[in-house]
Amino acid sequence: MRSLKFIFYSKVPKMKIVKTIDELKAYRSECSGSIGFVPTMGALHNGHLSLIQKSTSENDHTIVSVFVNPTQFLEGEDFHTYPKRTEADIKICEFAGVSALFMPNSEEMYSMCEPSLCAPSHKAYILEGLARPGHFDGVLRVVLKLLNLAQPTHAYFGKKDAQQLYLIQNMVKTFFLNTQIIPCEIVREDDGLALSSRNVYLSSSERQEALLLSQSLKVATQKIIAGQRDTLSIKASMYEVLKPLHVEYVEIVNRDFDTISTIEIGQSIILVCAKVGTTRLIDNLWI
Ligand code: PAJ
Repeated sequence: MRSLKFIFYSKVPKMKIVKTIDELKAYRSECSGSIGFVPTMGALHNGHLSLIQKSTSENDHTIVSVFVNPTQFLEGEDFHTYPKRTEADIKICEFAGVSALFMPNSEEMYSMCEPSLCAPSHKAYILEGLARPGHFDGVLRVVLKLLNLAQPTHAYFGKKDAQQLYLIQNMVKTFFLNTQIIPCEIVREDDGLALSSRNVYLSSSERQEALLLSQSLKVATQKIIAGQRDTLSIKASMYEVLKPLHVEYVEIVNRDFDTISTIEIGQSIILVCAKVGTTRLIDNLWI
């Protein structure tokens, strides 16, 4: 029995921690079969874990990246204070069966003089992009670099960041990249709060208030179930729920992120963004 155990453990592949691009390229050139890739900024929670688990269950190898990408943060945002939990991230990835964890630094990912990338302005400077102009340029820039490096067959992104997911799908299509983008469901706490690395910023009373975001989406669902399709009316009832918060936007769009006036089941996304204290939270519902 002891020797069997030894054989079993000795066959469990050890996760590689990769810090440089050369190491990642060397690792990647040894992999065959399907490669799942999960890009993250770390401080991993169960939302990230669900993407990782989907990838490990669907692919021969899974690469996770942890990189707090400076180009997607605006001046005055939380780049320097973004939560970091390196040791815990490593353990989570190890236990989840990740094959390689890529943790580069900024010097590895960016050079002083390099071409930039502009996200399409009419889709990247609305909603999230209106409050955070240029944010999606930075997201696309780093995701393009990461996809080129990891060369995955499949890459996993959460529906939680619906606009980001749309813009990445659009980039992959327009730049003819050979990666299939896999959208993943939003993971929530039992009380409905969508998991986010930024939830750690919330005090306990703010966490209670934050529940209003998912509650406003619940109210929207109830209206739709009752037959309401007019988006103005649905948005008005959401604003009512969100009254105690500083709401940045409530919007209803189709899968191409065009604002719509009538809900079409299977084609619509309801988006909400509000500030709870100083923390900006987003949530959404795919109808
Ligand atoms: P990050 O916020 O760390 O998120 C990494 C991935 O986890 C994204 O695809 C995001 O949509 C997904 N995710 C976050 N919370 C989730 C939840 N509650 N349920 C399901 N998925 C969730 O998004 C980024 O990093 C960055 O912009 C990145 C794409 C890595 C580029 O820097």
